[in-house]
Amino acid sequence: MPDRPYTLLSCSVSLDGYLGDERPRLALSNEADFDRVDEVRASCDAIMVGAVTVRTDNPRLLVRSQARRERRTARGLTPSPKKITVTERGDLDAGSNFFTAGEVEKLVYTSSPRVRDTRARLGPVATIVDGGRRVRMRRLSEDLADRGVGRLMVEGGGIVHTQFLSDDLVDELQLVVAPFFIGDSRAPRFVSDGRFPWNAERRAKLASVRQIGDVVLLRYALSPRFRDE
Ligand SMILES: NC(=O)c1ccc[n+]([C@@H]2O[C@H](COP(=O)([O-])OP(=O)(O)OC[C@H]3O[C@@H](n4cnc5c(N)ncnc54)[C@H](OP(=O)(O)O)[C@@H]3O)[C@@H](O)[C@H]2O)c1
Repeated sequence: MPDRPYTLLSCSVSLDGYLGDERPRLALSNEADFDRVDEVRASCDAIMVGAVTVRTDNPRLLVRSQARRERRTARGLTPSPKKITVTERGDLDAGSNFFTAGEVEKLVYTSSPRVRDTRARLGPVATIVDGGRRVRMRRLSEDLADRGVGRLMVEGGGIVHTQFLSDDLVDELQLVVAPFFIGDSRAPRFVSDGRFPWNAERRAKLASVRQIGDVVLLRYALSPRFRDE
């Protein structure tokens, strides 16, 4: 098994590069694209989101289609992938959908000093993983590989995207552009400030462009491991 999972970062952004506004789970995409994302989810071993996304969107992070869930179980897998989150504060509600929806393993990474409190709070509903003095996404990825995760889907938000991208841990970027503006600089952006491996001198490789109704899907190959499936 490679030292880290094949990592696919999937998100949708407004025309001005935001992930949403103050409303929880603002739909940037459309039904056809949600269904495409469901297919991608079904193809992964684990789905990861940041703690702010867990708190504000309360996502279930499950495969929605019954047929896809059945295909997974026929292959000896759980109906939906494992769920992963990361937190420093540990302020997550054990009753939120992340923890209660789906009979799948839930992993919460936190820094060593926060493990005890986080375990007291979430231990009954999740596996709390000591991420070291400070949680680094490379180490987290390697730990996931050790736990059998071969294919990881990172689904936001911007703080998590920034770390995966700037640490050069993403093999494939699937970026959906919605046909409207958010126009509020307080809204979360696709990424925050950082030093990214792709810049004017080193451009990312655009692998494909696909129109899905009123949105467009851009796929970028960000590493030599990119698989055009
Ligand atoms: N359009 C889309 O496709 C899409 C997808 C997902 C989310 N979103 C939106 O994105 C917004 C949230 O994005 P966001 O950038 O504000 O937050 P985020 O990335 O979802 O979560 C950030 C939080 O994760 C934890 N975290 C991240 N890195 C960490 C590390 N190295 N060590 C320890 N903890 C770490 C911290 O949690 P603690 O604060 O608990 O310490 C941090 O505050 C929401 O509005 C959501 O609706 C949009």
